Amino acid sequence: MTKRVLTGIKPTGVPHLGNYVGAIRPALRRATDPEHAFFFIADYHALNQVQDPALFNEYSYVVAATWLACGLDPAVCSFYRQSDIRETFELTTILSAFTPKGWMNKAHAYKAAVDTNREAGESDDAGVNMGLFTYPMLMAADILVFRSEIVPVGKDQVQHVEIARDIALRLNRDVGTDVLTLPDYELPSDAEAIPGLDGRKMSKSYNNTIPLFATAKEWKKGISSIKTDSSGRDEPKVAEGSAVYEIYAALATGADAAAMKASLEAGGMGWGDAKAELLGLIETEFTGRTETYDDLMAHPERIDEILEAGATRVRPLAESLMEDLRRAIGRGGSVRRSR
Ligand code: TRP
Repeated sequence: MTKRVLTGIKPTGVPHLGNYVGAIRPALRRATDPEHAFFFIADYHALNQVQDPALFNEYSYVVAATWLACGLDPAVCSFYRQSDIRETFELTTILSAFTPKGWMNKAHAYKAAVDTNREAGESDDAGVNMGLFTYPMLMAADILVFRSEIVPVGKDQVQHVEIARDIALRLNRDVGTDVLTLPDYELPSDAEAIPGLDGRKMSKSYNNTIPLFATAKEWKKGISSIKTDSSGRDEPKVAEGSAVYEIYAALATGADAAAMKASLEAGGMGWGDAKAELLGLIETEFTGRTETYDDLMAHPERIDEILEAGATRVRPLAESLMEDLRRAIGRGGSVRRSR
């Protein structure tokens, strides 16, 4: 039986090539049909961080348009906005009653904030809002409200999925019914991470990213700044581990990647030549998508329409879980009172 896969995307910035290779592309491969592939914009998770209303609004559209331009097809998955599923927030309240506070103290996003505060000589709670503290509970609700079975996430989110599973186990045990479905996380393979311009992992926080949607000139500027060693064109080079080759290999066909590797290793292909090939590949892959992206961003009402249709399609599933759960915890007329 096909399992239900669900993953959330927190709209806190503009996605880059590393996000495409590491998260967007692998997730899209899982989009088989709308019953089994759920992708959503986790806007209320972002609210803990992005509190400028204009920016909060913008990032949700930026991220939705990015996924759509990268090929997300609403016909083969369910794509919606977290905040459109009100059942999630009722579920969060119920889960909070069954979640030991200590589990939140141990959650790494919160712990990282406390550690940063301590290093800076601030009080533990400085700048920590309750949304950050209870972040794993809302994430558990996102997952459990749709009886999700597989949750593809990056390494940093594994603990959160484990907490979701623990909360489900605890609630099921306490109410004496297996009303909640236990989720498992799924990690991307190592092949799905690429280096950035400076050779470290491509990441917004290292400021070493290549944009997904740009002009040829902008891509060229980025790619020419990729660090390489100083070997000349004719010298044999080590392809593997070099940022130029690794980024190329993540995007190219296996045969093209093998050809570049062979040319670099044999000598005769300079780093400049390899960069030119990478630029050509990015232009081929992303020029059309940049047009789609710009077009969607110029028509946010189209994005709204897609996300609203997605929410309308999945909401009955959330309602059905909540009906089962309300009954399981004893809310409503069907439970006999004890004397
Ligand atoms: N916390 C995830 C992140 O930071 C986003 C997210 C929110 C999520 N809810 C989720 C991921 C549910 C998987 C399942 O990227």
